[in-house]
Amino acid sequence: MRGQGEWRIYSEEALNEIRARTDIVEVVSGYVLLKQAGNTYKGLCPFHTEKTPSFTVSAERQLFYCFGCGAGGDVFSFVMKIENVNFGDAVRMLAERVGVVLSQDDESPEKRAAREKRRRLYDCMEAACRHFETVFAKSPDAKDVRDYVGRRGVSDDTARCFRLGYAPREWDSLLKALTGNGFSREELVSAGLIVPSKSGKGYYDRFRGRLIFPITDISGRVIGFGGRVLDDSEPKYLNSPETALFRKGKTVYGLALAKNSIRNESKAVIVEGYMDAIMCHQFGFTNVTATLGTALTKQQAEAVSRYAPQVIIAYDADAAGEAATLRGMEILADAGAGVKVAVLPAGEDPDSILRKKGKEAFAEVLEDAKPLTAYKLYLIASKTDTSKLDERVKAAKEAARVLAKVESAVERTEYAEKAAEMLGVSCEAMLRDIDGLVKVSGPRRVKRRDPEVQDRFEVSRYTSFKDDIARSGEVVQILKAERMLLRLMWESKEVSEIASKRLKWADLSDERHRKLAQAILSSQEAYPEGIKKGSLTPRQVIGLIDNGEILEYAAGILIGEDEKLPDNLKKAAEDCINVILEHNLVYRIREIEKELASLSCRGEMQKSRELLAELGYLKKRISEEFQPFRGTL
Ligand code: UTP
Ligand code: MN
Repeated sequence: MRGQGEWRIYSEEALNEIRARTDIVEVVSGYVLLKQAGNTYKGLCPFHTEKTPSFTVSAERQLFYCFGCGAGGDVFSFVMKIENVNFGDAVRMLAERVGVVLSQDDESPEKRAAREKRRRLYDCMEAACRHFETVFAKSPDAKDVRDYVGRRGVSDDTARCFRLGYAPREWDSLLKALTGNGFSREELVSAGLIVPSKSGKGYYDRFRGRLIFPITDISGRVIGFGGRVLDDSEPKYLNSPETALFRKGKTVYGLALAKNSIRNESKAVIVEGYMDAIMCHQFGFTNVTATLGTALTKQQAEAVSRYAPQVIIAYDADAAGEAATLRGMEILADAGAGVKVAVLPAGEDPDSILRKKGKEAFAEVLEDAKPLTAYKLYLIASKTDTSKLDERVKAAKEAARVLAKVESAVERTEYAEKAAEMLGVSCEAMLRDIDGLVKVSGPRRVKRRDPEVQDRFEVSRYTSFKDDIARSGEVVQILKAERMLLRLMWESKEVSEIASKRLKWADLSDERHRKLAQAILSSQEAYPEGIKKGSLTPRQVIGLIDNGEILEYAAGILIGEDEKLPDNLKKAAEDCINVILEHNLVYRIREIEKELASLSCRGEMQKSRELLAELGYLKKRISEEFQPFRGTL
């Protein structure tokens, strides 16, 4: 979704300039192998896994749309999605690419100063990172750390890739280097790189005598550091404090390096530590990221699951790790990801498994990852001494509680069989226990509303054409008619005028349709010259839709499910309008019929009579005005 605030930062001219100079086909080609197919280009969708290309890019319309997963939009939406950045960042990235200077004219002096400060902070972190890297690679003092890294099996390539560094055992190595580069002490403090001394007189480096792990945001900009001691002293790791750039709870270590393979494999792996992530990458598991020892947060879960529908948690197998894993799974599931847990052998972490047992062993651990229920049962079983009756009974009860929450009866039964076997108890007894619990509390129920009300008012909940197919035939027909009408309006101003006369926009059943109709109309007013050429400049209409979700949907409509438009645009538009109007009448009739049913129970005669009159009128209209049009669409 495009942030409204961000949208206004840039002048309309600047955005139009970027739009005019950018070719979506060229931008997408940087990420997806495209083949020309008639008017459009096709490729494998980067946003979901597929074997046959349904990802479509239209050069003419400057839009993309995937007929498989419903992802779509303009070049800004594409960059936002593929780089996982917000609208402002997408604008900046594209502006840079085509050499548009973004002047933020309407920005207040305070805002401008804040922005400049932030930019300096990024520069400062980058300069610090380079300093640590240089010391690591070149300084004779860094021999210890190079040996240490070597002993831990990190290759030179891996060290370079993760930009490992060294903070020497001095009080002011970084302080001197960066003030020499023109950064002030205040800046270094706000970057979390130096700390005021207790005496209050001077400052000293936060990181001293530590192996440095730079932490980046998703686009690879350095925002913080972790530093590890080379011996057994405490604390083992020291991390950057929270700064304007670094928020630990929002950051996932290594995501910038992992995001492409996470997307390609449709699967992410989350580990606990810096070294775990690094070694995984070195051994070829490049879809691995780390949460840096803290419990997984909602924001981290969202950041990762945006790239892949499947996430595997591979935390240490200690008690803290188990608790963190269970919490993490629920958080990930809430973020909409399919979650599994890789169970590591006791006392091992991914780094140690890889180093001791190699690539295949870790691949197997990932392969055996368990879904939430299976993991919970596994935890119960692993803590039970099955030779003791009382422990078996207790464990069976616990397992029954876990299983009572499983919605599908088939799944419940299958798991019950497994659990009974693991615990050495009778499966029938286990199932009876579960049934008892299900009857008392019931499995979680999904709340449902009146299906018709839902059909009409919740159409805007789904995003892809595929979902339409699952809808009732009637609703599909209405949506089809509305979409076709929008395509026709886009093609012809005359159609737009006809539609404006005959329809109130509230007659359209989908919020996005209403917004798109308005965008088309206002673009036809704003750019009358576009119409002379037969149709509007796509870039102009698109510029008027400042809502990413609607734009995505619009891309689907405008690229079109079937490319061909009817020969007679006006006739086709009239047909669509009739379907829409008729549907609205039918809908109102149903509403009245329902209301009548409830009124007649309560004997409210006056109101009933009024409704009956309206009903008669509507039914007459339907048969007179709309019967002739039936079946034209
Ligand atoms: P671990 O103690 O499991 O360390 O902490 P590790 O990653 O296996 O490191 P090595 O193998 O001993 O070098 C897991 C993560 O928790 C965070 C770090 O991000 C670490 O990678 N942590 C740990 C801290 O932030 N501070 C600490 O003092 C310890
Ligand atoms: Mn470790």
